[in-house]
Amino acid sequence: MKKKKRLIKFFCLILAVVVLAVWSYDNLTLKTVETTLTTEKTEDEIRIALVSDLHYSYFYDNDKVIRSIKDTNPDIIFVLGDMYSRGMTGRIDKVIGFLEELSEIADVYAVTGDHDYDDEYKQKVTELKNVYLLDYIYRDVVIKDTKLRIYGINNVYFTDTFDLHNEFETPPEDRINILLSHIPSMPHYGDFGFDYIFSGDTHGGMIRLPWFGGLYYNGHILPKITYNGTITDKGLYEFENTSLYVTSGIGNYPIPLRFNNRPEICLIKIKGE
Ligand SMILES: [Fe+2]
Repeated sequence: MKKKKRLIKFFCLILAVVVLAVWSYDNLTLKTVETTLTTEKTEDEIRIALVSDLHYSYFYDNDKVIRSIKDTNPDIIFVLGDMYSRGMTGRIDKVIGFLEELSEIADVYAVTGDHDYDDEYKQKVTELKNVYLLDYIYRDVVIKDTKLRIYGINNVYFTDTFDLHNEFETPPEDRINILLSHIPSMPHYGDFGFDYIFSGDTHGGMIRLPWFGGLYYNGHILPKITYNGTITDKGLYEFENTSLYVTSGIGNYPIPLRFNNRPEICLIKIKGE
Protein backbone atom coordinates (compact mmCIF):
# COMPACT_ATOMS: atom_id res chain seq x y z
CA MET A 1 0.00 0.00 0.00
CA LYS A 2 2.83 2.34 1.01
CA LYS A 3 4.69 1.48 -2.19
CA LYS A 4 1.58 2.25 -4.28
CA LYS A 5 1.20 5.68 -2.61
CA ARG A 6 4.84 6.48 -3.26
CA LEU A 7 4.42 5.48 -6.90
CA ILE A 8 1.35 7.75 -7.29
CA LYS A 9 3.28 10.64 -5.70
CA PHE A 10 6.17 10.04 -8.07
CA PHE A 11 3.91 10.08 -11.15
CA CYS A 12 2.16 13.25 -9.92
CA LEU A 13 5.56 14.90 -9.56
CA ILE A 14 6.62 13.84 -13.06
CA LEU A 15 3.29 15.10 -14.46
CA ALA A 16 3.70 18.46 -12.68
CA VAL A 17 7.24 18.85 -14.10
CA VAL A 18 6.03 18.01 -17.62
CA VAL A 19 3.07 20.44 -17.38
CA LEU A 20 5.35 23.20 -16.07
CA ALA A 21 7.90 22.59 -18.84
CA VAL A 22 5.24 22.63 -21.59
CA TRP A 23 3.58 25.73 -20.09
CA SER A 24 6.92 27.56 -19.86
CA TYR A 25 7.79 26.70 -23.44
CA ASP A 26 4.38 27.74 -24.77
CA ASN A 27 4.10 30.96 -22.77
CA LEU A 28 7.55 32.29 -21.99
CA THR A 29 9.64 31.56 -25.08
CA LEU A 30 9.60 33.60 -28.24
CA LYS A 31 9.81 32.56 -31.88
CA THR A 32 10.28 34.52 -35.07
CA VAL A 33 7.92 33.61 -37.89
CA GLU A 34 9.03 34.49 -41.41
CA THR A 35 6.65 34.96 -44.34
CA THR A 36 7.32 36.13 -47.90
CA LEU A 37 4.71 38.03 -49.93
CA THR A 38 5.17 38.90 -53.58
CA THR A 39 3.90 41.82 -55.62
CA GLU A 40 4.58 43.35 -59.00
CA LYS A 41 4.73 46.77 -57.29
CA THR A 42 8.34 46.35 -56.19
CA GLU A 43 11.65 44.95 -57.31
CA ASP A 44 13.13 45.42 -53.84
CA GLU A 45 12.92 43.32 -50.74
CA ILE A 46 11.08 45.19 -47.98
CA ARG A 47 11.58 43.72 -44.52
CA ILE A 48 8.77 44.40 -42.05
CA ALA A 49 8.80 43.35 -38.40
CA LEU A 50 5.43 42.87 -36.69
CA VAL A 51 4.87 43.23 -32.96
CA SER A 52 1.43 42.78 -31.46
CA ASP A 53 -0.43 42.07 -28.24
CA LEU A 54 2.55 42.47 -25.96
CA HIS A 55 0.18 42.94 -22.97
CA TYR A 56 3.27 44.20 -21.15
CA SER A 57 4.17 41.84 -18.34
CA TYR A 58 7.10 41.98 -15.93
CA PHE A 59 7.04 38.20 -16.12
CA TYR A 60 8.07 38.22 -19.77
CA ASP A 61 11.55 38.85 -21.20
CA ASN A 62 10.74 42.07 -23.08
CA ASP A 63 14.43 42.65 -23.83
CA LYS A 64 14.39 39.38 -25.76
CA VAL A 65 11.60 40.80 -27.94
CA ILE A 66 13.77 43.83 -28.73
CA ARG A 67 16.78 41.64 -29.52
CA SER A 68 14.70 39.35 -31.75
CA ILE A 69 13.28 42.32 -33.66
CA LYS A 70 16.80 43.65 -34.13
CA ASP A 71 17.89 40.25 -35.47
CA THR A 72 15.27 40.45 -38.23
CA ASN A 73 17.06 43.54 -39.56
CA PRO A 74 13.80 45.29 -40.47
CA ASP A 75 13.37 48.29 -42.75
CA ILE A 76 10.26 49.23 -40.82
CA ILE A 77 8.37 48.02 -37.73
CA PHE A 78 4.61 47.75 -37.32
CA VAL A 79 3.11 47.72 -33.83
CA LEU A 80 -0.42 46.37 -33.96
CA GLY A 81 -1.91 47.24 -30.58
CA ASP A 82 -2.63 45.85 -27.10
CA MET A 83 0.83 46.77 -25.87
CA TYR A 84 -0.49 46.75 -22.30
CA SER A 85 -3.64 45.30 -20.80
CA ARG A 86 -6.73 47.36 -20.08
CA GLY A 87 -6.45 49.37 -16.86
CA MET A 88 -2.71 48.70 -16.45
CA THR A 89 -1.86 52.35 -16.98
CA GLY A 90 1.08 52.03 -14.57
CA ARG A 91 2.85 50.18 -17.38
CA ILE A 92 2.45 52.91 -19.98
CA ASP A 93 5.93 54.32 -19.34
CA LYS A 94 7.43 50.85 -19.69
CA VAL A 95 5.70 50.42 -23.06
CA ILE A 96 6.87 53.87 -24.14
CA GLY A 97 10.44 52.84 -23.26
CA PHE A 98 9.90 49.65 -25.28
CA LEU A 99 8.70 51.63 -28.31
CA GLU A 100 11.64 53.99 -27.96
CA GLU A 101 14.02 51.03 -28.14
CA LEU A 102 12.19 49.71 -31.21
CA SER A 103 12.51 53.11 -32.88
CA GLU A 104 16.28 52.89 -32.56
CA ILE A 105 16.13 49.80 -34.81
CA ALA A 106 13.80 51.24 -37.49
CA ASP A 107 10.89 53.64 -37.87
CA VAL A 108 7.82 52.42 -36.02
CA TYR A 109 4.23 52.71 -37.27
CA ALA A 110 1.67 51.92 -34.60
CA VAL A 111 -2.03 51.50 -34.03
CA THR A 112 -3.83 50.97 -30.74
CA GLY A 113 -5.99 47.99 -29.82
CA ASP A 114 -8.90 47.29 -27.53
CA HIS A 115 -6.72 47.57 -24.41
CA ASP A 116 -4.10 50.30 -24.95
CA TYR A 117 -6.42 53.17 -25.87
CA ASP A 118 -5.81 55.58 -22.95
CA ASP A 119 -5.25 59.22 -23.96
CA GLU A 120 -2.10 59.31 -21.81
CA TYR A 121 -0.60 56.45 -23.84
CA LYS A 122 -1.58 57.93 -27.21
CA GLN A 123 -0.17 61.32 -26.22
CA LYS A 124 3.14 59.82 -25.12
CA VAL A 125 3.42 57.75 -28.32
CA THR A 126 2.94 60.85 -30.46
CA GLU A 127 5.78 62.57 -28.57
CA LEU A 128 8.26 59.83 -29.52
CA LYS A 129 10.76 60.39 -32.30
CA ASN A 130 10.46 58.05 -35.30
CA VAL A 131 7.26 56.50 -33.91
CA TYR A 132 4.10 57.31 -35.86
CA LEU A 133 0.68 56.66 -34.37
CA LEU A 134 -1.80 56.08 -37.19
CA ASP A 135 -5.20 57.10 -35.90
CA TYR A 136 -7.30 57.27 -39.06
CA ILE A 137 -4.44 58.74 -41.02
CA TYR A 138 -1.94 57.41 -43.51
CA ARG A 139 1.71 58.16 -44.15
CA ASP A 140 3.59 57.86 -47.41
CA VAL A 141 6.91 56.11 -47.03
CA VAL A 142 9.69 55.24 -49.44
CA ILE A 143 11.85 52.21 -48.67
CA LYS A 144 14.71 51.62 -51.09
CA ASP A 145 12.97 52.41 -54.43
CA THR A 146 9.52 51.29 -53.33
CA LYS A 147 6.67 53.62 -52.47
CA LEU A 148 4.34 52.53 -49.70
CA ARG A 149 1.24 54.11 -48.21
CA ILE A 150 0.63 52.96 -44.64
CA TYR A 151 -2.87 53.45 -43.25
CA GLY A 152 -3.84 52.89 -39.65
CA ILE A 153 -7.18 52.76 -37.88
CA ASN A 154 -7.93 52.42 -34.20
CA ASN A 155 -11.44 51.08 -34.61
CA VAL A 156 -12.26 47.97 -32.64
CA TYR A 157 -16.03 48.24 -32.34
CA PHE A 158 -17.56 48.72 -35.78
CA THR A 159 -20.95 50.39 -36.15
CA ASP A 160 -23.45 49.24 -38.78
CA THR A 161 -22.67 52.29 -40.89
CA PHE A 162 -18.89 51.95 -40.68
CA ASP A 163 -17.37 52.39 -44.12
CA LEU A 164 -13.69 53.02 -44.78
CA HIS A 165 -14.66 54.89 -47.95
CA ASN A 166 -15.90 57.67 -45.64
CA GLU A 167 -12.44 57.92 -44.08
CA PHE A 168 -9.98 57.63 -46.95
CA GLU A 169 -9.85 58.21 -50.67
CA THR A 170 -9.23 55.24 -52.95
CA PRO A 171 -5.64 53.99 -52.51
CA PRO A 172 -3.20 54.96 -55.30
CA GLU A 173 -2.25 52.18 -57.67
CA ASP A 174 1.42 53.12 -57.87
CA ARG A 175 2.02 52.41 -54.16
CA ILE A 176 1.95 49.32 -51.99
CA ASN A 177 -1.05 50.10 -49.82
CA ILE A 178 -0.98 48.66 -46.33
CA LEU A 179 -3.58 48.82 -43.58
CA LEU A 180 -2.66 48.37 -39.93
CA SER A 181 -5.69 47.46 -37.89
CA HIS A 182 -5.72 45.65 -34.56
CA ILE A 183 -8.88 43.72 -35.40
CA PRO A 184 -8.73 41.47 -38.50
CA SER A 185 -12.26 42.36 -39.63
CA MET A 186 -12.17 41.66 -43.35
CA PRO A 187 -15.88 42.36 -43.97
CA HIS A 188 -15.23 45.98 -42.96
CA TYR A 189 -12.25 46.72 -45.20
CA GLY A 190 -11.56 43.76 -47.43
CA ASP A 191 -12.83 45.48 -50.60
CA PHE A 192 -11.12 48.82 -50.02
CA GLY A 193 -8.10 48.18 -52.21
CA PHE A 194 -5.31 47.47 -49.74
CA ASP A 195 -2.56 45.20 -50.94
CA TYR A 196 -1.84 43.99 -47.44
CA ILE A 197 -3.60 44.17 -44.10
CA PHE A 198 -1.75 43.42 -40.86
CA SER A 199 -3.66 42.62 -37.68
CA GLY A 200 -3.35 41.05 -34.24
CA ASP A 201 -5.97 40.76 -31.50
CA THR A 202 -6.82 37.04 -31.76
CA HIS A 203 -3.84 35.69 -29.79
CA GLY A 204 -4.21 32.80 -32.24
CA GLY A 205 -7.11 31.49 -30.17
CA MET A 206 -4.70 31.08 -27.19
CA ILE A 207 -4.91 27.27 -27.20
CA ARG A 208 -4.49 25.56 -30.56
CA LEU A 209 -5.61 21.99 -30.95
CA PRO A 210 -4.84 19.63 -33.82
CA TRP A 211 -7.56 19.84 -36.53
CA PHE A 212 -9.75 22.19 -34.39
CA GLY A 213 -7.27 25.08 -34.63
CA GLY A 214 -7.77 27.96 -32.16
CA LEU A 215 -9.97 27.32 -29.14
CA TYR A 216 -11.50 30.81 -29.16
CA TYR A 217 -12.40 33.27 -31.93
CA ASN A 218 -14.74 36.23 -32.06
CA GLY A 219 -16.82 35.12 -29.07
CA HIS A 220 -16.96 31.48 -30.17
CA ILE A 221 -15.45 28.44 -28.45
CA LEU A 222 -14.14 25.87 -30.95
CA PRO A 223 -15.00 28.20 -33.88
CA LYS A 224 -14.29 25.54 -36.47
CA ILE A 225 -17.51 23.88 -35.29
CA THR A 226 -19.51 26.79 -33.87
CA TYR A 227 -18.74 29.76 -36.16
CA ASN A 228 -20.17 30.18 -39.65
CA GLY A 229 -17.95 33.06 -40.81
CA THR A 230 -14.39 32.95 -42.10
CA ILE A 231 -11.92 32.35 -39.30
CA THR A 232 -8.84 34.57 -39.55
CA ASP A 233 -7.02 33.97 -36.29
CA LYS A 234 -3.39 33.24 -37.20
CA GLY A 235 -1.19 33.46 -40.26
CA LEU A 236 -1.74 34.44 -43.87
CA TYR A 237 -5.14 34.63 -45.57
CA GLU A 238 -5.48 35.37 -49.27
CA PHE A 239 -8.57 37.22 -50.50
CA GLU A 240 -9.43 38.41 -54.00
CA ASN A 241 -7.04 41.38 -54.19
CA THR A 242 -5.83 41.58 -50.61
CA SER A 243 -3.66 39.51 -48.31
CA LEU A 244 -4.43 39.56 -44.61
CA TYR A 245 -1.74 38.58 -42.15
CA VAL A 246 -2.75 37.97 -38.54
CA THR A 247 -0.07 37.56 -35.90
CA SER A 248 -0.95 35.69 -32.75
CA GLY A 249 1.32 38.13 -30.91
CA ILE A 250 3.38 37.83 -27.79
CA GLY A 251 1.38 38.23 -24.60
CA ASN A 252 -1.73 36.97 -22.94
CA TYR A 253 -5.00 38.22 -21.52
CA PRO A 254 -6.45 37.61 -19.00
CA ILE A 255 -4.11 34.75 -17.99
CA PRO A 256 -1.04 33.19 -19.59
CA LEU A 257 -2.55 30.06 -21.05
CA ARG A 258 -1.16 29.51 -24.53
CA PHE A 259 -0.77 26.00 -25.83
CA ASN A 260 0.76 24.97 -29.15
CA ASN A 261 0.81 28.69 -29.98
CA ARG A 262 4.06 30.22 -28.77
CA PRO A 263 4.58 33.98 -28.42
CA GLU A 264 5.82 35.32 -31.73
CA ILE A 265 7.20 38.23 -33.62
CA CYS A 266 6.98 38.17 -37.42
CA LEU A 267 9.28 39.08 -40.23
CA ILE A 268 7.33 39.81 -43.40
CA LYS A 269 9.35 40.09 -46.58
CA ILE A 270 7.63 41.84 -49.48
CA LYS A 271 9.41 41.03 -52.73
CA GLY A 272 8.97 41.43 -56.46
CA GLU A 273 7.24 38.62 -58.32
FE1 LIG B 1 -4.61 41.31 -27.14
